[in-house]
This record gives sequence, structure tokens and C-alpha cells, in this order.
Amino acid sequence: MSLLVRHIGELVTNDPTAGDGNVGRRHDAALLVDNGVVAWIGDSDQAPAADDVLDAAGAAVIPGFVDAHTHLVFAGDRSAEFEARMAGVAYDGRGIADTVTTTRSASRADLEALSRQRRAEMLAQGTTTVEVKSGYELTVDGEQRLVEIAHTLTDEVTFLGAHAIPQEFANDRDGYVALVAGAMLDACSSHARWADAFCESGAFSVEECRHVLGAAAKKGLGLRLHGNQLGHSGGVALAVELGAASVDHCTHVTNEDVALLGDSDVVTTLLPAAEFSTRSPYPDARALLNAGVTVALATDCNPGTAYVTSMSFVMALAVREMNMTVDEALWSSTRGGARALRRDDVGHLGLGARGNLVLLDAPRVAHLSYRPGSALIRHVVRDGRVLGR
Ligand code: NIG
Ligand code: FE
Repeated sequence: MSLLVRHIGELVTNDPTAGDGNVGRRHDAALLVDNGVVAWIGDSDQAPAADDVLDAAGAAVIPGFVDAHTHLVFAGDRSAEFEARMAGVAYDGRGIADTVTTTRSASRADLEALSRQRRAEMLAQGTTTVEVKSGYELTVDGEQRLVEIAHTLTDEVTFLGAHAIPQEFANDRDGYVALVAGAMLDACSSHARWADAFCESGAFSVEECRHVLGAAAKKGLGLRLHGNQLGHSGGVALAVELGAASVDHCTHVTNEDVALLGDSDVVTTLLPAAEFSTRSPYPDARALLNAGVTVALATDCNPGTAYVTSMSFVMALAVREMNMTVDEALWSSTRGGARALRRDDVGHLGLGARGNLVLLDAPRVAHLSYRPGSALIRHVVRDGRVLGR
């Protein structure tokens, strides 16, 4: 089965060998997906025949978004916390406990339905690859349930037992850390590719995160870290020390942190929807980019700091609030996300990449940031199949 997308006004491939510049841009282009992978890219008037044709009629095409940081398996509603925050109450992570209570009491069927619905909402907005974390049950059986549900949505599942100290361990944090690095990790590791921890004062210390992530690495899991979200937690240095795939948030970083990241392979995943929804200062993307750091953008979709499913919205924030260029924001939302997940088959449309792409209702990709809030996703193609058609 092959699909030809033709008459593409502006095509961003993110493959410098397939077009101009770092984002591999072409005009009046066509692209053939055969057996789910990109098999040909060229001028539209040279396009080969195919089983199915999608006529872009001059619109722009981009790789499907890669959202490398979400917490979409949860139950309950924290809109009142958001309302209070907008009236001046600061975010401190304590609301996680509310979501833990509601998630623990939700049935598996309800949690599955809620998570599927959020995943569908993301897909309709062009996110063809998504990472999903556990972290809202904080018991051995509960976290296992969450990684199992996450695994029905994606292969990019992350075990986040070290998200908060649950109330029943309030007086025994060492006991909880030992549980996470022991029985909980054992129960979750076969369904997860990654392990993550919330390294922050008020959450887990550098030593506690090092212990949990060290145990996860021994089990063969790749490492990610929530670091430097609310303050100078030491998370960046720990992520570099452990060779994590990505350190996420990085809202508060020192010059030394930036230099460490620039000299490492650790991707920095910025989550500006969290700053938006907590009314916090945005991270300094330009300092990171200037230091040669690989920057990814992701939604952080979660009920507390960012109940956001739209990568276009995240891009608009990155461009408007963080001085990223339109091309940088698009690259970071696609290929950058793929780098954060150590994937080379998604996030770009070079030959051999998976046929995951988005046909916009706009002639240029800049419209995604230029017209925030407009419905600009005309078609989503996954593995060469046009969804909903
Ligand atoms: O990435 N920082 C920790 N975890 C989430 C928020 C979780 C919550 O408030 O429910 C985040 O921002
Ligand atoms: Fe997060």
C-alpha cells in the first residue's frame, strides 16, 4: 500500500539531505510513503504513481509531532487549583496528592477510557508519537496498572514511581524510595522503556533520584529526569552524571548547568505550557541553543501544571515567549522530541522514516505559531495511513 502526498506548498522534512537548511525545506514538493515508510521525496511534477493520493493543494506538510513528555494517565479534576493559582496561589506540587487519590479510586476501565480520549485528542492535533508516564498511584500494584494502561497507548512508557511521597509514607521517605527502587520497579520494568524521577526540593533529592534511577538503569531502563522546574534542584548535573536521555523542565538553570548540558548528549526538553499554566517565568531557550544543547519541546500534559494536549500551542509559546524561531520550535517539537526518546525513525521525513506527517490547513508552517488557537490540522497521516478517511 502506498500513499502519495502531492502539491505540497511547503514541506519540512527535518532532513538536511532532503531539502534546504537544518529543517530540510522544499517547495512544490511531493512525498511517497510505501509500506509505512518514506520512499521518495521530490518535485511534485516528478511524482511517481501510488495506490492512494492526498492532494495538498499548496498547503504545508510537517513531520508528525513527537511529544516526549506527558502524564496522561490520571483521573479527577484540578481546575479549581488552576483557578486558585490564577488568583495568586503558587504551585508547589502538593496537588499531585489529589490526583493520586482520585486515580487510585478510578476503575481500570475508566482510566483506560480517559487516557485513550486524551491520546485521541493529541493525535487529532498532529501528535503521532507520544511518551506517557506513570506516577499517579504510587503503590506497587497501582503503578503497574498505570504502566500497563500507558503501554496500550504507546511503546514510550516511563515509570515515574518517584513522583511524590504518598501520604502513607509521609513519615518514612526512605521506605518509599526503597519500595520504588525495589518491588515497584520490579513490577513496572517489563512494561516500561524509561524511568523518570521528580528531582526538586519538596519532591525527591539528588541522592534519592540517583538511587532510584541507578536501580532502573540496572534493570535496562533508559533514564529521564524532571529537573530544575521550581528551583536549582541539581537535576541537570545528575542527568548529565547518569547519562540520561533527557532532562525536562530546566526552568531554573545556572551558566554551569548550561555548559554541562552543552558538553553532553542529554537532550533538554522544555515544557512551556507548564510555565503558562503556573504563571512562571519561561526557561531561557536561547542560552541553551547558543550553548549547542539539543532542545526538545513537549506538552507535559498533566492535571496540575499543564492540562495541554496541543503541540501547536507549545510551539506558539516557544516562539512568542522564549524567542525560539519558527523553524527551531518546529524542529524541537518533532526531531527534538525524537532525540529525547533516542528515536531516529520518527520526527523527520527523510528516506526510510516512518510515514507520520501532518497536512496543515495553511500554506506555510509559520501559521502554526502565527495563528494560535485556529484549527490548522487538516489531515494526520500515521504509518502512511490517512486517519479518519
Ligand atoms: O511535570 N513536576 C512534576 N510533575 C508534573 C506535575 C504533576 C502535577 O502537578 O500533577 C510536571 O509539571
Ligand atoms: Fe512532567
